[in-house]
Amino acid sequence: MQIFGIDVGGSGIKGAPVDIRTGRLAAERLRIPTPKGARPKAVASVVASMLDHFGWQGPVGCGIPARVKQGVARTAANISDDWIGTDAARLFSKASKRPFAVLNDADAAALAEMHFGAGRGLQGVVLMLTLGTGIGSALFVDNALVPNTEFGHFWLRGRVAEQYASDRVRKEENLDWKTWAARMQEYLTHLERLLDIDAIILGGGVSKPSRSEKFLHLLDTKAQLLTAELRNEAGIVGAALTAGRLIADQ
Ligand code: BGC
Repeated sequence: MQIFGIDVGGSGIKGAPVDIRTGRLAAERLRIPTPKGARPKAVASVVASMLDHFGWQGPVGCGIPARVKQGVARTAANISDDWIGTDAARLFSKASKRPFAVLNDADAAALAEMHFGAGRGLQGVVLMLTLGTGIGSALFVDNALVPNTEFGHFWLRGRVAEQYASDRVRKEENLDWKTWAARMQEYLTHLERLLDIDAIILGGGVSKPSRSEKFLHLLDTKAQLLTAELRNEAGIVGAALTAGRLIADQ
């Protein structure tokens, strides 16, 4: 069965049809730059044009960088504050005339990793972190998602943690891998003070082997440390998977 998956980010909106039995993209993904300001209506019209591009008429799953409860965004990070209180599922459905399931982008990516990637078969307390523009988090207890965690947002060294240790900060502040890894280590140490974690999956661009080989050996955690396998497709796949599950439950 195919479902369309979309991953809305601060800089790009990515989407593709997904075979939700295998977790593979059924066509090459399309990336459209996020409209300036990332306001709800502008994003919804990009989403509608993406579905038109693929001639997609069926259900759609969409991850956004916000806490989302029953389709409604409760927060907004790296997108316009206008999202807060917006019924994103309704907005997208109205703009594109297709049924939508909307969830937090990191939760979406992690659901895909747990189902098809690095998290397969892992039990206990598993935390996935998506390291990109921000730091997204997704927490699983024996495979059940605790939705909408925001572990990128606690304070570290007088800043919101994601403004200290995200991949964007590494690039913007021109940090070498050793310096960035030291920040990531502080971040992970703090997390492990708060939570007894069995496995941590690191996702986002830095999980590519060519990048992770530069810093992974510098990190020391009590938890088993893994890198994501689906990389930049995870958000798309997980969003589609979620929409598929919702349909199956109806
Ligand atoms: C947001 C999260 C999101 C993460 C990754 C954070 O800034 O607060 O909701 O999952 O960025 O996009």
